[in-house]
Amino acid sequence: VICLITANFKENMDGTTRERLSHIQGIPLLERVVKYWPRVEKFQASEEDLLIATYPKAGTTWTQEVVDSILNEGDVEKCKRAPTQVRMPFLEMTAPDGSSSGITKLEVMDPPRVIKTHLPIQLVPRSFWDAGCKVIYMARNPKDTVVSYYHFDRMHLYQPDHECLGWGSWYDHVKGYWKERHNKKILYILYEDMKEDPVREVTRIAQFLKRQLSKSTIEHIVQMTAFSAMRENPMANYSTIPDTIFDRTASEFMRKGEVGDWKNHFSAGEDAAFEEHYRKIMSDCPIPIRFTI
Ligand code: A3P
Repeated sequence: VICLITANFKENMDGTTRERLSHIQGIPLLERVVKYWPRVEKFQASEEDLLIATYPKAGTTWTQEVVDSILNEGDVEKCKRAPTQVRMPFLEMTAPDGSSSGITKLEVMDPPRVIKTHLPIQLVPRSFWDAGCKVIYMARNPKDTVVSYYHFDRMHLYQPDHECLGWGSWYDHVKGYWKERHNKKILYILYEDMKEDPVREVTRIAQFLKRQLSKSTIEHIVQMTAFSAMRENPMANYSTIPDTIFDRTASEFMRKGEVGDWKNHFSAGEDAAFEEHYRKIMSDCPIPIRFTI
């Protein structure tokens, strides 16, 4: 409640564009997501659609680019046909001015569609499960995730105040998909694994998508989707998002793309407190998340 009051107060008093949060089934989401929630909930997925699900800042854009590159067999030009958010719409998102949304984009696309979501598993529209869609879930260690989220928050002019994180608890999010991974068609991947051995992980994703790719095509895809390549690619680096939304003087979207940047942000005391909390909350769920590679 204090979070919400603070967010409202700030928006009303200082004229910033920072957005308020509302809730669906207890999960805090941007107000504009909640406003159009009935459309999202009713979305009709088709069996061939693929859902890429992540907690914010876990490596969503990277996973999307890898998937699109696999589906296009490493054809660079095809993957540059449009910006990420057009090629693979963000299911629950609506533009700040309401001009477009994930749903409106998806409605004019034919399946198979690649769809991005940050929704925790219990909020994923039912049709994805009824249709038996495949899901790729990427998790990233929470220390690097929170550092990335912090910098994203500084650049994104519509993010709520820092203490009000959309899409709920990181713990519940990563655990929710982990617990269902054998009951549903979920490929669970880790950011740190992909950094450590991208050839191995891209091969796993290709196998999950039933795409037979040669070793050289896989290696080519790894190069195309490396941080340095994506940072220079205007169709993959979100440079098409206007400055009125992303203040690039504060931070970049393609910021560092590393494992372990948290060490530059956490004091020893903060780290010890975090570790204790983490061990307690994760004790019932052995996801092999690593903080360094
Ligand atoms: P950093 O802020 O730590 O650099 P998302 O796409 O879920 O919003 O996640 C963004 C994070 O993924 C950012 O992390 C970004 O730099 C990183 N990222 C994007 N593309 C990447 C790539 N090809 N390789 C590694 N990290 C990447």
